[in-house]
Amino acid sequence: MDFSIKIGPSEKLGKGCAVLLLHSNLKLSSLKGFNKFTNTFLKKSPRENGFYGNTGETLYLTNSLFAPFSSILLVGMGEKNTMDRGKFVRALNTAYDALKKHNVTEITLFSNDLKNLKYDLEFLVQTISRVLTESNYKYENTLKTKPGRYLLKKINITSTLDEKIEIREAFKRGKAIGEGSNLAKELGNLPPNTCTPSFLAKKSKNLGRLKNVAVSVLSRKNMESLGMGSLLSVSNGSYEPPQFIIIKYTGGRKTQKPVVLIGKGITFDTGGISLKPSSGMDEMKYDMSGAGSVIGTMQAVARMNLPMNVIGLVPTCENMPGGAATRPSDVVRSMSGKTIEILNTDAEGRLILCDALTYAARFKPTAVIDVATLTGACVVALGNVASGLFSNNDELANQVEIAGEKAWDRVWRLPTWDDYHKQLESNFADVANIGGRAAGSITAACFLEKFANFPWAHLDIAGTAWVSGKAKGSTGRPVPLLCEFLMSKSGW
Ligand code: BES
Ligand code: MN
Ligand code: ZN
Repeated sequence: MDFSIKIGPSEKLGKGCAVLLLHSNLKLSSLKGFNKFTNTFLKKSPRENGFYGNTGETLYLTNSLFAPFSSILLVGMGEKNTMDRGKFVRALNTAYDALKKHNVTEITLFSNDLKNLKYDLEFLVQTISRVLTESNYKYENTLKTKPGRYLLKKINITSTLDEKIEIREAFKRGKAIGEGSNLAKELGNLPPNTCTPSFLAKKSKNLGRLKNVAVSVLSRKNMESLGMGSLLSVSNGSYEPPQFIIIKYTGGRKTQKPVVLIGKGITFDTGGISLKPSSGMDEMKYDMSGAGSVIGTMQAVARMNLPMNVIGLVPTCENMPGGAATRPSDVVRSMSGKTIEILNTDAEGRLILCDALTYAARFKPTAVIDVATLTGACVVALGNVASGLFSNNDELANQVEIAGEKAWDRVWRLPTWDDYHKQLESNFADVANIGGRAAGSITAACFLEKFANFPWAHLDIAGTAWVSGKAKGSTGRPVPLLCEFLMSKSGW
């Protein structure tokens, strides 16, 4: 998607469809810039056409006298005082649907109007660019006949000279985040016979072309020498070799401690010997969504040139049954030295993440966030609205909550109290890999917490990483949250 900023009055600069975002007071500041006809038309016409500026309402108008615009799209933002960031995102999505319906490929927005909205210009422009970039994504990789494809191609924003740089930067950031989110979606949607651990490694290596990015991959042999017995036990039943991907972004000073992101990369989760039921098992191709979101976020961070250091770790393998697969009751030794009794081979995510957490310690991180489609219990608790948040550090947890709110990629925190840790006791190892039926998402998080000797947060995205049903597909979450979190950490 192309972008341009035009400085000066709108009527000289306009092109394509003029998109006017307005609250239910229907106040427009761009009017001065339009020609007389358009101006009078816009003052009278919306209400006559039944447009009241409610959230998500749109009105598409065409008239040759709108020139130089070919059309006008009014987009309702609802009452100013009850507006929230979610309503803004929702309104942008309906605006995109209307543009698609009328096959509009170029639009013009007016910063004068944006300034009438509740939020600051920077946030608005970044969100517009992010959401429209995300809307432009469509999966077609494995389709022979690609259906005729609608794309919004160009966005113009008219502005004043002093705002120009701010608007351009915000637009670029939004685009980088949207594309990061689209990369996460694509990796999630690709079938598991394409999107294997080696494929994720190859895609990650491509990021090495970006400025300040270096990518390396540990092989099974390397993991053996590091003692990652827990991670490797998950991979035992599979022909596909496991990979441990390390993406280093060094946009900060050399001595500056990094933030580490860890993404669960199970490219297919059959459950292993504790085999899952067949119905709905196809959805377990999304079990690498945490990995996808970390790879997508690393791409966005590098494209944004954030002034900080970030390391992305992706432990990735399949969870398959087979003659060499791990058995329930096997005891394995993790890289930390802690032994684990595997009571259910379907609780495999925590087994690969614990070794990645131990590995993360070598970077002396200021904070570590792991992202995983970890438990079905989290879907039961929070549905597909909020991701589960767990943390050993209140300050970090607050920062993650705030980032989620800002990006409208929300989280809800649950506890990891000692009382829950008790459920993981084992007679045969230092810890068991499951904690019984009660509080399944919490005990999964407690398991991870035992391996985190630094400020740590865990996001359970089992309910938020994809949608089921007719619109089945990956959502790209929580890339927007992670980017927002890192931006604020970097001082932006
Ligand atoms: N990948 C699944 C979690 C999952 C389930 C995500 C359903 C999305 C939808 C994970 O590896 C898993 O199987 N977890 C088990 C844990 C249990 C055995 C303690 C679960 O949630 O059932
Ligand atoms: Mn599983
Ligand atoms: Zn899994």
